[in-house]
Parts: sequence; structure tokens; C-alpha cells
Amino acid sequence: MTIRVSKTSDPLGRYYTHATVAGLLVQMMGKRSPDLALDLGAGDGALVRQASTVWKSTRFITVDIDENAGSVELPASGGDKFKHYVADALSKNLSERLAVNLGCADAALCNPPYIRPLWKKHFGEILEEAGLSHVLPKMSDAPSDLLFIAQNLRFLRSGGHLGLILPDGIIAGERFQSLRETLVRNHKIERVIELPRRIFKGTDAKAHIVILAKDVGGSNHIKIQRVENDGVLSSSIALPSDFAKMRLDYSHYLTAVKCGSDSLTIRSVAVSATRGNCSSAQRRSMSVPVFHTTEFDASGTVPSSFVLKKQDASVATGLVAVPGDILLARVGRNLESKVCIVRSGYVILSDCIFSLRVLPAYREQVFNFLTSQSGREALASASHGVAARFITTEALLNIKMSL
Ligand SMILES: C[S@@+](CC[C@H](N)C(=O)[O-])C[C@H]1O[C@@H](n2cnc3c(N)ncnc32)[C@H](O)[C@@H]1O
Repeated sequence: MTIRVSKTSDPLGRYYTHATVAGLLVQMMGKRSPDLALDLGAGDGALVRQASTVWKSTRFITVDIDENAGSVELPASGGDKFKHYVADALSKNLSERLAVNLGCADAALCNPPYIRPLWKKHFGEILEEAGLSHVLPKMSDAPSDLLFIAQNLRFLRSGGHLGLILPDGIIAGERFQSLRETLVRNHKIERVIELPRRIFKGTDAKAHIVILAKDVGGSNHIKIQRVENDGVLSSSIALPSDFAKMRLDYSHYLTAVKCGSDSLTIRSVAVSATRGNCSSAQRRSMSVPVFHTTEFDASGTVPSSFVLKKQDASVATGLVAVPGDILLARVGRNLESKVCIVRSGYVILSDCIFSLRVLPAYREQVFNFLTSQSGREALASASHGVAARFITTEALLNIKMSL
């Protein structure tokens, strides 16, 4: 396989997992032994070695393209519960090679290489079959970690567990928003654990443990945690699943950074601040009402005529505000007095409105501040322009709220 990598990286992405991280990942997947577990890109076999100490009756199949990888020795040292293949885990005929049908593995462990393989046509099929072909603007830009996630999903049975170690970009990067959104929609992301930096020898990369159950729906929350620098596992935050699209890293959500002893920036508690996209021309031609700066009233909530059912709001091509979102006028003379909150239903927004989404724990506090005298003054001084005043996303996020 030909691989494009930066000069400082290992060409096969060989950064091996520390036994304690492998132990934590296996622990989070549960004690019950799956019948068959795969490890694609097994390296020295850190993940399956740990798993075999807990899952006593599991049959393990490991694959690595590197013929010198330590996992080659597993069958000799660990006995016949291990079977190893020197093979390309992204090859077209992997299922025949391993004699494992797609959709049949009970569990998979994987710390994929973080490299950019040269695109091969059948990678499109791997992504397609895993329901991930649309998650990047250009499929052929798919990095190997995304391809390995897809390959693992194909091999897993419904309900099977996937334990991954993934780089920060997949967990928190804007580029992978659609991937995260798709994964939470189609599967159950049970837990994400942020690992301390420099957990892998030879790389500064930040990584996270992710535990996912294939095709299992119905969970509203994802447990997110982190391993502190002293090795202790933090308590967990129950993150509402619809925040996964934005990011899934514990530190971001925890950093309700106090700036000074008695104030907090909106940025430190914000999940997103997004503009509506419905222009005045579009607004006139829409079959459903669109919330605009002229529609704020004194109630502090959205007037009921603009509150839509989910299916009615689905005609919108852009942003639709959901319960908990704080709506603010982005432009206009009295923008500081135009703030309200969505208490129920869905609201389509004009391009003159911001939707501010903050951590649920801070929602009322932020809303109360923005509608208070000091909040109005903060909005007024953060806005620019004389005749037509406006406020930018940056200026909104930088507002300090006095407590
Ligand atoms: C980040 S390391 C992880 C190794 C091991 N799973 C661990 O956690 O310590 C990625 C591994 O994937 C292997 N690898 C890279 N490209 C591969 C491919 N196309 N097929 C199979 N293995 C590959 C590398 O040789 C390396 O051992």
C-alpha cells in the first residue's frame, strides 16, 4: 500500500498503545467475553493482549500490514485463541482472507494508523457500506483512521462493540462534524475518554478512547471523561447527543473558564454560535414562518406563530433553532434588546439572527445575563457600526458575563 505522510511521521503510523490505556479501553467495553474480536492494525498487540486477560473465552483475529509487528508472535505466545494475518486491513478481499463474514464480529478493538493512504477505488465501497461515504466533501480525502472505522463497522454485527483510540481531530475538529453527527445518529457512542497528551511514545498527538455499539439507537446522552495528568479518571459529564456534532472532548466542555473571580466569557460555556441563513427574499417565498429581527416581543420567548413542528421546519435548508437555543438579533438599531430563548419546538431563522447554544448547565444563567441591564450594555458595546449596527460571532463569544 502506498502512503503519503509527513517526513516526521512513521510511514505506517506505528504508535503503540500503552498497556494502561489498553486496559482502560477494554474495561469500558465490559467484562463479558465476545465470541470473536478483531484488531485491525494490531501492532504489538497491546489491545488484544489486555482484552485476553479479561475476555477469557474470546477468539481474537489480528491483522497488521507490517510483517515485523509484534502481533505476529501472538499465536505462538498466547495460544490458539489468537490468529494473526500479515495483510492490508483495507484490502478488498479482507473478509475472504480472514474467513470472517461482514457483519459477524462481536467486538473490534482498534488504534488505527493516523496517516493518509493513497486513494483506491474500493475505499469508496468500504465507506459506502459503513454509511460514511458522505462525511467529507471529497471521499478521496479520507484519512486512514476514517477508513479503519468504516472497515470495523462493516465487520461488526449489529449490537457489537467497537473500542477505538482516535486522534483529537476526529473528536473535536470541524472537518469531522458530519462524521460525528452520522455516528451518533446511526450507532450509540457510549463513552469518550480524553487521554493526556504524549500518551504515545514519539508523538505529541492527543487521542481519545471511544466506545461505540453498532446500530444501537435511542440514547440521548454520551458519557465523556478524561484521564487526568496524574492518571486518575475524572467523573463523567452526560453530554446531550446532539452536541456530538460540535465536539466530543471533555476538556472543552469542562473549561467553563473563569476569567477573573467573578466573570465568565460566553465562549467558555458556548457549544456554538451560528447565523441563520434565510434571506429576506427567501423568507417571503417560504411556506412556513421565518423568525426575523422584527418578531422579538417582550415575552423573552419565541412568539408561538414561529414555533414549528420538526417536519414543518425540515423545509429549511440552513439553521433551525431547537429548544434551549438563545436567539439574538445580529444587526439593527436596538439589537441589545432583542434576545429570546426557544422553549419548545423548532424555529427557522433569518440571516439577521444568531442562535447561541450553550452548555445546558449555563443556559438560564447566560439567558438571564443577556436579558439583564448589564447584558444589554455588554451587547451594545460589543456591537459595531453607527447607522446599521451589527455584532460579530467573535464579539458575542468574547462578552464577559458578570455573575
Ligand atoms: C497506531 S498503530 C497501533 C498499533 C496497536 N493497535 C496499538 O494500539 O498499539 C497502527 C498500526 O497499524 C498498522 N497499519 C498501518 N497501515 C495498515 C494497513 N493498511 N493494514 C493493516 N495494518 C496497518 C501499523 O503497522 C501499526 O502497527
